[in-house]
Amino acid sequence: MKHNSHPALGLLSATLLAAAISACAPVTPAQTATGSRCDAVAAKAMAVKDHCLRCHAETRQKEGPSFSAVAMKYRGNPNAEANLYEHLTIGDGAKMLEGHAEFHKCIASESPEKIRNMVRWILDQ
Ligand code: HEC
Repeated sequence: MKHNSHPALGLLSATLLAAAISACAPVTPAQTATGSRCDAVAAKAMAVKDHCLRCHAETRQKEGPSFSAVAMKYRGNPNAEANLYEHLTIGDGAKMLEGHAEFHKCIASESPEKIRNMVRWILDQ
């Protein structure tokens, strides 16, 4: 009887592992050809649609840090994708330029794969 919990746990961790692996889903041939891990066109379109560019730019500091500064901050950090995915889906406190903090904008309406794509795009800046 004691053994019964093990297969279930094994299945759970296999599922989690599969989720973790699919976070680094294989890129399409087109993406590989450009050496990029993400679909930049789709990511940019999403950034426009979700009003991210109101506060962010690729290389220029606005209300929020430039995406290249974010990429720099996370360079070499193995948790970068996971951290930013959380940042964009759970939302956390964001300190605005003039000092007050508010909750960072969340993306709730997009598929996990699209959000991951955007995270990768940000980390590629
Ligand atoms: C109202 C302005 C505003 C909007 C809109 C906004 N952000 Fe931000 N964002 C900020 C600020 C300010 C920070 C810096 C937070 C801090 O350092 O506390 C930030 C931080 C970030 C970071 C860095 C997080 C980290 O861990 O360093 C990322 C990535 C990010 N935003 C992405 C996005 C994306 C993608 C969108 C659109 C879905 C978006 N932001 C919309 C203001 C905004």
